[in-house]
Amino acid sequence: MHDIVQDYYGRQLQHSGDLKTSACCDISQVPAWLKPLLARIHPEVLARYYGCGLVCPPLLEGCRVLDLGCGSGRDVYALAQLVGPTGEVVGVDMTDEQLAVAGKHQAFHADSFGYANVRFLHGYIERLEELDLRPGSFDVIVSNCVVNLSPDKDAVLRGVQRLLKPGGEFYFSDVYSDRRVPDAVRKDTVLYGECLGGALYWNDFLRLAQGQGFADPRLLTDRPLAITDPELAARTGNLRFFSATYRLFKLDGLESACEDYGQAVVYRGSIPEHRGRFVLDKHHDIEAGRVFPVCGNTWRMLHDTRFAAHFDFIGDFGRHYGLFAGCGGGLPFDVAGAGGEGSACC
Ligand SMILES: C[S@@+](CC[C@H](N)C(=O)[O-])C[C@H]1O[C@@H](n2cnc3c(N)ncnc32)[C@H](O)[C@@H]1O
Repeated sequence: MHDIVQDYYGRQLQHSGDLKTSACCDISQVPAWLKPLLARIHPEVLARYYGCGLVCPPLLEGCRVLDLGCGSGRDVYALAQLVGPTGEVVGVDMTDEQLAVAGKHQAFHADSFGYANVRFLHGYIERLEELDLRPGSFDVIVSNCVVNLSPDKDAVLRGVQRLLKPGGEFYFSDVYSDRRVPDAVRKDTVLYGECLGGALYWNDFLRLAQGQGFADPRLLTDRPLAITDPELAARTGNLRFFSATYRLFKLDGLESACEDYGQAVVYRGSIPEHRGRFVLDKHHDIEAGRVFPVCGNTWRMLHDTRFAAHFDFIGDFGRHYGLFAGCGGGLPFDVAGAGGEGSACC
């Protein structure tokens, strides 16, 4: 599969518009605070962007960030501005042509930002241990429409778990299906290259993540993907695909279900660009200043991570009140608007 994917992204596709799905979306759907950052990125880098989501989580200043399958480097150069001169962003990709574009514009971006804080490495995301990257050294790992292309997703998550610092997070956008993808679709080289054939059934993804120690994956945003090429659409039958952004925290003590200990948090409204509310995930849109009841897992995701200083914490783990209602269950994605127009865009 590596050869097929390298050929697809290295030679067949030349720019975002060549994709045959609504995975990539236009700049008008990018949040206002991100637009000036993207405006500083070289046009050739932007032209070869093939992501399906937004992988710029809040509060990155000074962080070490790793981008798996960085392609031509759009997200690396956006993140470089968010981590600032005291942080670092490392991009990994296996396709020479994509890395050549990313590397060619390093000096341009260093000049424009006023500092040089990015590195690009040639490598395979399921063999991260082969790269010169220290275990437990990244605050945040991101990835944008890449894990579905990997032939060994379990190994990818194992590598992520190894490289994250305790309290760090894997924050990534990818394509998922509403059921297991049949062999005929999986073996179709164009569907595979288009990020559909290798898509995980969402519930298999949750099991995989849990198996690698990410006990409570949190879905942040999702939107249905439209297959814009009618011939390709016909080959996928009744399968439905979604672009979704998940966050997986590396935290000891997370439980397999959301348990209620009577705890709550109050957001201080102190995170730049997110003053009014902090969105942890699809079920936790936390308004500043308001007492917000949380389960034990959510408590840990806020208390034992880089977000701690921005919250007041009420309660402890002293008494258990049963299962916490309100963290979601069932098909996690919104199916409305299956024409491909959603709010969770890149
Ligand atoms: C859909 S593109 C996304 C690129 C980039 N994240 C972006 O948003 O533009 C997929 C990228 O992942 C890379 N890729 C796919 N499988 C990979 C693997 N197993 N190891 C390393 N890179 C991989 C490809 O070379 C390609 O550049």
